[in-house]
Amino acid sequence: MLNIAVLVSGGGTNLQALIDAQQSGTIKSGKIALVVSSNSNAYALERAKNNGIETVVIEKRGAEFEAELVKTLEAHDISVIVLAGFMRILSGDFTARYADRIINVHPSLIPSFCGKGAYGLKVHEMALEYGVKVTGATVHYVNEIPDGGSIILQKAVEIQEGDTPQVLQKRVMEQAEWKILPQATELVCQKWSEK
Ligand code: GAR
Repeated sequence: MLNIAVLVSGGGTNLQALIDAQQSGTIKSGKIALVVSSNSNAYALERAKNNGIETVVIEKRGAEFEAELVKTLEAHDISVIVLAGFMRILSGDFTARYADRIINVHPSLIPSFCGKGAYGLKVHEMALEYGVKVTGATVHYVNEIPDGGSIILQKAVEIQEGDTPQVLQKRVMEQAEWKILPQATELVCQKWSEK
């Protein structure tokens, strides 16, 4: 069984979806072995601890952050890395080291409303501001271009009259993110298990 690390920065509802998927058997080719947070106050850490998953907090910046991250991942024999609400951009050196082993969930249909500066609630503000009628979520491989790696799964979500960014964020999470992130995680773990 492959070891999965989940990288988080905030509330961790996507981490919760991964934990639930492991318990229900949707994720069966890998095991969530570690949660790494870039923020010591992230509620995601509580979710991990409540489920007996080891946690590490790394609040350093830039190259120091990545050096410590690599050491931590190697110490836990991590094969697949899932970015679940992780609010840092990883360097090309790091993404090359783990090529095709890092995936990210983004709360829009890439290539809309993505790239540097498009994260969290801002993405939904951008979608409402533009006036699109359909948005959604994307899970993609992570490379050196922010939100630029190849797409694994996408799911569309309708925008409704009177939506606020908060209401839309919740719908996109419930209808898309919490479904496709566990599914994509299983696909990638299966792929690496067969190699
Ligand atoms: C999620 O909507 C996720 O897609 C988004 O942040 C939220 C984190 O929520 N990620 C990005 O915008 C990355 N560019 P969570 O901590 O409850 O999973």
